[in-house]
Amino acid sequence: MTGADVLLWCNPHNPTGRVWTRDELHAVATLALTHDVLVFSDDIHADFTRTERTSYTPLALVSPELWERELLIHCASPGKTFNTAGLESAAIFAPPALGQALEEAKRAAGLHNPNYFAIPATIAAWTDGDKWVDTLRQRIDANLALAVDLLHTLLPAAHITDPDGTYLVWVDAAAYLPHADTLTAAMDEARVAVSPGIDFGSEYGSYFRVNVALPPADLEDALERFCYCLNTHATSPITPTFSSSTEHPA
Ligand SMILES: Cc1ncc(COP(=O)(O)O)c(C=O)c1O
Repeated sequence: MTGADVLLWCNPHNPTGRVWTRDELHAVATLALTHDVLVFSDDIHADFTRTERTSYTPLALVSPELWERELLIHCASPGKTFNTAGLESAAIFAPPALGQALEEAKRAAGLHNPNYFAIPATIAAWTDGDKWVDTLRQRIDANLALAVDLLHTLLPAAHITDPDGTYLVWVDAAAYLPHADTLTAAMDEARVAVSPGIDFGSEYGSYFRVNVALPPADLEDALERFCYCLNTHATSPITPTFSSSTEHPA
């Protein structure tokens, strides 16, 4: 971290879904304190953690010193959990001087007029949403298990990350992506969109990210269609074993 001004930190990590342990957070905080680096912690996927996996811990709890030395900005949002990104409301916890600077920057950028529903919807979600979130987490957990199992079956030569959190599955599909445009061709043919790994860095061209936040039957159908098309484009196609009676493109 030598020479860095800011560390952009994401907890849980996107796209791998890694929920950082207290030890890992402590190591990051120690580094930031040593090198006097401001940590911008984006925790907007924090509600999506899985039972019997690492539980989510905010960095400020592990290192109050980071907060006291004004080296931490913490970001929360109802956007992912309650599917309210369109309302454009979020919460940023910042030490006083930084908070003032952020407030001024927000006003200068004209981002200080939330729409009529944004604040009441955020308060309602964060005040009364507990039961809904509990059910949502169960549903996402089941969808992640379904997606990871199905991907192992349909793409046996891929490396699939089984996430601790988020609603995303990160897949290294190098064996199935012989050309740069193979992923796009498979998406077009299957009529299923995944996030291309290249969006996360030039070295991730062989990866893709799947969002599992949809009804299980649709998730299964989409994964089967997509993996079928990916297999047909691979240099050495691997015959997938389909687990449902869904029809696939010829
Ligand atoms: C980790 C993370 N941070 C921030 C954002 C941006 O969220 P929004 O579009 O609600 O501002 C996203 C959106 O995908 C995200 O995944």
